[in-house]
Amino acid sequence: MNNQVTVLDHPLIQHKLSFLRDKNTGSKMFRELVSEVSMLMCYEAMRDLPLEEIEIETPVAKTKTNVLAGRKLAFVPILRAGNGMLDAMLKMVPAAKVGHIGLYRDEKTLKPVEYYKKLPLDINERDVFVLDPMLATGGSAVDAISIIKQSNPKSIKFLCIVAAPHGIRVLTEEHPDVQVFCAAKDKGLNERSYIIPGLGDAGDRIFGTM
Ligand code: PRP
Ligand code: URA
Repeated sequence: MNNQVTVLDHPLIQHKLSFLRDKNTGSKMFRELVSEVSMLMCYEAMRDLPLEEIEIETPVAKTKTNVLAGRKLAFVPILRAGNGMLDAMLKMVPAAKVGHIGLYRDEKTLKPVEYYKKLPLDINERDVFVLDPMLATGGSAVDAISIIKQSNPKSIKFLCIVAAPHGIRVLTEEHPDVQVFCAAKDKGLNERSYIIPGLGDAGDRIFGTM
């Protein structure tokens, strides 16, 4: 796989992903697991955030120490399922601003349909993390990122939990400047473009709308 795509195969992430995949996992636990996996993914996807040195005083001595170098971030979940990842990201970076893109996959055409967009006004000064647990055909991710790019953000990273090879190919071809992070690259898609083995319909499982 090219270095535009990182599979986060940390044992804790893989362990939690197994329970996300299990059809017997109910909505409450599913939401908690999506949050926990997102927090671990956030930690990995932010490895390259720049630091700056400051001077502080501990109770014992003066010292130089590192803090984040004032990078402005924005999180943009793709509704609905991306919202399941948002709280965990905000726990890690409470100062981030949040935008939303509403897209759903038309069940017949499988093409994404846009129904909502609200982005931070200063998104052009921000590094953006787009959140969606599922990257299947790639249509939703490609469209959401194209919409965000119209506002000229500084950079875009895409975080998903399960990715299909097809979606990865489409997304990296359409947006070669976007780093992609996933917890698993699955086998493929079924005839309804669900990821196999996947975890089913992420939005339905998060919100209990099955
Ligand atoms: C799911 C998922 C992605 C999209 C992925 O959303 O959360 O947004 O499908 O599929 P794609 O890569 O083939 O575009 P869905 O359309 O089911 O909407 P929902 O989150 O509102 O349920
Ligand atoms: N959207 C989902 O929620 N799951 C899939 O497997 C594919 C698209």
